[in-house]
Amino acid sequence: MKVLGIETSCDETGIAIYDDKIGLIANKIYSQKKIHKKYGGIVPELASREHIKKTIQIVKSIFLKNKISQKEINAIAYTSGPGLIGPLIVGSSIAYSLSYAWKIPSIAINHLEGHIMASMLCKKKPNFPFIALLVSGGHTQIIYVKNIGKYKLLGETVDDAAGEAFDKTAKLLGLGYPGGKKLSIIAKQGIHGKFIFPQPMIKHNNLNFSFSGLKTSAKIKIQNHNINQQTIANIAYAFEEAITDVLVKKSKKALIQTQCKQLAIVGGVGANSKLRAKMKKEIQKIKGKIFYPNKKFCTDNGAMIAITGMMRLKKKLNINTKLNIRAKWPISDIK
Ligand code: KG4
Ligand code: ZN
Repeated sequence: MKVLGIETSCDETGIAIYDDKIGLIANKIYSQKKIHKKYGGIVPELASREHIKKTIQIVKSIFLKNKISQKEINAIAYTSGPGLIGPLIVGSSIAYSLSYAWKIPSIAINHLEGHIMASMLCKKKPNFPFIALLVSGGHTQIIYVKNIGKYKLLGETVDDAAGEAFDKTAKLLGLGYPGGKKLSIIAKQGIHGKFIFPQPMIKHNNLNFSFSGLKTSAKIKIQNHNINQQTIANIAYAFEEAITDVLVKKSKKALIQTQCKQLAIVGGVGANSKLRAKMKKEIQKIKGKIFYPNKKFCTDNGAMIAITGMMRLKKKLNINTKLNIRAKWPISDIK
């Protein structure tokens, strides 16, 4: 069986085909980053227009390139939330219309569930139940993943998401938008101990986070120091140290509290090398196992939507639902 996955919740048009016997057979991502860069953030209207231009074009091109006919597709999975409403409307309407025309089921996928199930795209995948640390531009959550469609939110950020904190700090350091990845590259040149950032809520017993203070702390450091390449690297280093320490500490706490032995790191910030390395070291200390998708499956992509669609199709979980596009769709409301 083959599922076509369509992801358009933000500024990436991600289209993929997942086959239950072979695995991922096609995966194309068109990023609009260049378009939004000059505005210092995503312009939703421009994002919607780009999705309109690209979605069908990419679907056609991957059929052609992989010599797949539309008749071989058994279902279409699409992101119906959460995300930017315009981009979601574009992808969802296209997916819904194609499923009607091709007389195959449509499967509405929650973007956060897609990020979690991206961990199933690796060779070494977690078994249910496991803990997911979901760290993206819009979310920072610790989730108990009992099975597909069965999630319990254990903790989340009370203000900025981890990716948002990376991007805002990167912007203050003059690294452009979105600067999370750039910041982590520059941090490699930073000298340990030159700056110290607060580690918000690290001592709180719950599994919540707070990252909005980090950008203020970065702002003060920038105002009070001579800014050159080395200071920028030193600030980036200290910022990354602080944020990754908090993420590691809380994830470890979640494993201990739930007595779960497996942790998957998913979402865009999951591509961060320092986070991966620190997490591995700490989780091994409690004899836990860590899983992370290939970096290209951490940031938004169609493969995570296609594989989630396949898992839902096999279990006949909420397929062929009415078109219901949701800018907000909390993980605990997934069925
Ligand atoms: O999951 P994603 O593609 O989109 C959302 O669903 O939000 O995550 C994008 C976020 C951005 O904030 C980006 O700066 C961040 O992930 N990001 C990183 C890295 N790569 C992407 N942050 C830190 N280190 C990275 N290597
Ligand atoms: Zn995402």
